[in-house]
Parts: sequence; C-alpha cells; structure tokens
Amino acid sequence: MSFLRLYARVLGLLAAERRLAIVLALANVAVAGLQFLEPVMFGRVIDVLTTREGAAIWAETLPLLALWGAIGLGGIAANILVALHADRLAHRRRLAAMARYFEHVLALPASFHIETHSGTLIKVMLTGADSLFGLWLGFLREHLATFVALVILIPLALWLNWRLALLLIVLACIFAVLAVVVIGRTHRSQEAVNAYHSELAARAGDALSNVMLIQSYVRLALEAKQLADLMQRLLQAQFPVLNWWATVVVLTRAASTITVLLIFVLGAWLKTQGLASVGEIVSFMGFATMLIARLEQAMNFVSSLFFEAPVLTEYFKTLDERSLVNEKPGAATLVKVKGDVAFEHVTFAYETSRAAVEDLSFAAPAGATVALVGSTGAGKTTAMGLLHRLWDPTSGRITVDGADIRDYTLDSLRRNIGVVFQESALFHRSIADNLRVGKPDATMEELTQAARLAEAHDFILRQPQGYDTLVGERGATLSGGERQRLAIARALLKNPPILILDEATSALDTLTEARVQQALKALMKGRTTFVIAHRLSTIREADLILVLDHGRIVERGRFSELVQSDGPFARLVSVQGGLGGPPPVTQPG
Ligand SMILES: Nc1ncnc2c1ncn2[C@@H]1O[C@H](COP(=O)(O)OP(=O)(O)OP(=O)(O)O)[C@@H](O)[C@H]1O
Ligand SMILES: [Mg+2]
Repeated sequence: MSFLRLYARVLGLLAAERRLAIVLALANVAVAGLQFLEPVMFGRVIDVLTTREGAAIWAETLPLLALWGAIGLGGIAANILVALHADRLAHRRRLAAMARYFEHVLALPASFHIETHSGTLIKVMLTGADSLFGLWLGFLREHLATFVALVILIPLALWLNWRLALLLIVLACIFAVLAVVVIGRTHRSQEAVNAYHSELAARAGDALSNVMLIQSYVRLALEAKQLADLMQRLLQAQFPVLNWWATVVVLTRAASTITVLLIFVLGAWLKTQGLASVGEIVSFMGFATMLIARLEQAMNFVSSLFFEAPVLTEYFKTLDERSLVNEKPGAATLVKVKGDVAFEHVTFAYETSRAAVEDLSFAAPAGATVALVGSTGAGKTTAMGLLHRLWDPTSGRITVDGADIRDYTLDSLRRNIGVVFQESALFHRSIADNLRVGKPDATMEELTQAARLAEAHDFILRQPQGYDTLVGERGATLSGGERQRLAIARALLKNPPILILDEATSALDTLTEARVQQALKALMKGRTTFVIAHRLSTIREADLILVLDHGRIVERGRFSELVQSDGPFARLVSVQGGLGGPPPVTQPG
C-alpha cells in the first residue's frame, strides 16, 4: 500500500508536464494494445491455412496480412513518439527535481543542517533524482502498458479458453505471493542498506572537507579503514536481500517455463478431446507468452520500486522537512528600518542542552553600538543568531522598531541585518563573486571601495588574478585574516541598517586590526551595531556593554563605568593587561 502511495508521489512530480506524460504513456498503451492483435492475427492466418485450399487461401489471408501490416506501422509511429520524447521528459524532470530539492534544503533552518551532514544531503539529492528518473522512464515506456495489458489480457485469455487461462492465473498468483513474501522479508534490510549508503556519503564528505586534518594527524589509514568497515556492514545487509531477490528471479523464470510446458500439454489434450482447434492453441500460446512477459515485467517493476523505495522515501522525507523558523501568513515586509532593537526576556535552548541564553533583556536604540562580551560558550553568538532568526526564542521576544521580528518576512528581516560571522564562510568562487554576495549588482567601483575600507584591496591586488582569483573551498587559499577582511567588505557592501560583528577582527594583527577598526567605526555610524569581541580594546566606545555568563547578563554599562566597578568586566580587563593591549612585560630587574 505504501509502495503505491510512494509510486503515486513519484508520478505526481511529472505534474508540471502532465499532458506530455499522459500522451506518451497512452502511446505506449497503444503499442501494447496493437501487440495483442498479433497473436489473434497469427491464429486466424493459421486457421485459414489449415482449413482452406487453393485461391481461397489467398483471398482470405491477404486482407488479414494487410491489416497486420497497418497495425505494425501504427506501432512504429507510436514507438517513435515515445523514443523521441520520453527520455527528454525524464531528463528535464530529473533536473527539476534536483533544483526543487536544492532550493528547499537551502531554506531549511540551521537546526536541520546541524543534524544532517551535507554529504548525506548531496547523496539524497543525486540518488533521489536518479531513482525518480528511472521510475519515470519505466512509467513512460512500460509500466502503464504492462498494467493495462494485464487488465485486458487475463479476461481475454479466459474468454479464449478458460481451461488454459486458469494456468496463467495460477502463475500470476504465484508471482504475487512471491513478491509479498520477499518484500516482507527484505524491506527492513534494504532500508538499512540505504541508511548505510547515507552514512557512507556523510563520512566521505566529512573526510573530504577535513583533508588537512586527516593528513596532519596521519589518519589516512584509519579513515580508510573506517570507511571500509562501513562498506563491509553495508554489504552484510545487502547480500541477504540480493539472495532473496535472486531467488525470486529464478522462481519466476522457472514458474513461467513450467506454465508454458503445461499449456502445451493441456492444449494437446484439449485438441485430442476436440475442445480446441490448432489455431486456437497457437493464438493462446501467443497470448500466454505475452502475458508471461508482462507478468515478469510487473515483477521487475515491483522489484525496482522495492529497491528504490528507501532512496525515494529519504528524498521525500527531506522535501517534507519544514522550517521551525516559520513565516507568519501575511507577515509584513520590513522596509525603512530605523534600527531600534530590543530583547525582552529572551530565552533559548538548543534541542538537547540547557538554555544557551536565558532571560536576556536589553535595548539597543537606533544607531547605538552594543558590545557582547563574556567567556567562550557564554551564548553571544547564539543571542545574535536569534536576532537574524537562525532560531526562534523558546520564550520572550525580540523586536525591531517596536515589532516582534516574527511579524516580518524572513527575507526582509535578514536583508536588513548584516553579519560578519565568527568563521568567515566563503564560496569556492572568485573574490569578486564572494564580495557580491552582499550586493549582487555591485559595480567594480563599489567592490573596490568596500575592499579598501576593509583593508582588503591591497592583498586582493596581490592575488594572481586580483578580484577574479578563485579562493578555493571555504577560502582555503587565503589566510584567516584575509578571509575575515573579505567578510567585512562583504558586509560593508550589503550596507544594512543593523550590523552584527561576531569576532570580526579577531584574526587580524594589531596594526591591521586598528586600521580595520577605523573603517568599522565609520561604518557603524548611523547603524545599530552589535559587536562581539574577546579583545576588549575594540569595544571601548560602545554605548552599552553586556557581560554574559552562562547565557545570562551578569553586568551591563559603559566601558568607563565597568572598569571602575569591581565586577566581572573589570576582572576580564585586568587579565588582558588593563586596556586590552598586550599583557605587561615584566622589566628585567
Ligand atoms: N548548534 C548548537 N547546538 C547545540 N548547542 C550549541 C549549538 N551552538 C552552540 N551551542 C552551545 O550553546 C552555548 C553557547 O554557544 P555560543 O556559540 O553562543 O557561545 P559564544 O558565547 O558565542 O562562544 P565563543 O566566544 O566561543 O564564540 C555553548 O555551550 C555551545 O556549546
Ligand atoms: Mg561565538
């Protein structure tokens, strides 16, 4: 039953080109239908040949042969139609299925992506699309015709000679029972096999994206062995399934052969009893071979659906994933943002752990700079993730210009917030393309201006192809500080009213940092800015400093106030050597 639902869903994806799909499937049914007539013709001709003599033979066979020829030509025409268009249709829909999956997955929330490795996601996209492709082609070329053929052939056979037809019905029952039993015994294992395949993709993807780690920790042999172990387990799950289905193949073949033999034996006996003519038996044999071929096709269909089912289920499951960060129906578009941001008793916990931020309340008036400091793991990045809705608070609310951010569309909210992430993510594209992420239509002047402000222009010009240099996967050809400056330039280009700088300058040397800070200062003017920094010297001019500890605000105020009080902030400052410069050097005595 669930197989049928799955198959219906597979065919449902053809909806965008349903007219062509239906025409092709019907053309196939027509081809199959024309084939029915062949054995009838054959039987008729044989009867004419065995019962008539002389000129009568020609008079009766010629019209039959002409009709036969016409049917053949009609079949060829339908075949050409199918051959020309079925593959093209399937190829188009395959890519469309990949595109749909791709867009869907990219829109899924951070929580989903943390749980599912990108290697698995790619595997599901590719194998899912291939499975769909195979089943669509099967449908366009064969499945419907097979189904229609069975529905027509079985009653027809009964009508032709019910005694002989009973043998065919027994054969069909044997096939059905075999399929049900073997599917029942193997479907769990096949699901396990698919799970192993997904795990394999995740492992391989994970290893490939950490090549440096593997090489420097000399883990190559170990990683290869772990992958081989996984493959071994995969084969152990796969082999019993293969054994069962090999048995199905052998048994269906044997059953078919025996049925053909029995039809001959029974036919000969019926002839001796005068219950059937030679022509009838010949016609029936034609039907029987066709019907058996169709029954075998039906079994092939069942087995291919069986083997593809786990892959397709996984594909559809991902398509059914819904974002937890939902957009309200009729959400407003955030335009002309002033930039008043407020957190009101915001609490948030990642699924498994304790609250990562707890009861966070503060206001950042438009244009203000708010700094978040605190030990690592205190919840700073999490709090800012909530502001651009990577997650939604478990309780409490965040407002922008007085309205809950959940009342705005996700796109419009995020368009108004620029983020320089703690880890500068870069595409495996040119530097210019990476900068344009913030503003797709940016001119070359705008790019260079932003790059200059972020102190990136000079190093970009030193790259072999300047702005057209490919940066490698995740920016592998650049230094940490260079990546960070590109990330800053990218945010500058986006020019958002609200800016989040998460350790934006942490990878820069003191001199470069000072220069970038100057640029950032200019940038922060007139925008609401959130600065997360471990180096406290960078937040001296913040309008408000929030000190976080274990997700809670433990102290708040301006720099000068906080250093004077004897609180956690003052202690942090003193550990960093007073004003955040290098720790004091003890003078040799
Ligand atoms: N995706 C996640 N799933 C589960 N827990 C998470 C996730 N991201 C962060 N955490 C946990 O939430 C807590 C807060 O993490 P967060 O990244 O906000 O800290 P942070 O203050 O930015 O630290 P750092 O200064 O090191 O960047 C940490 O205990 C961390 O382990
Ligand atoms: Mg962080």
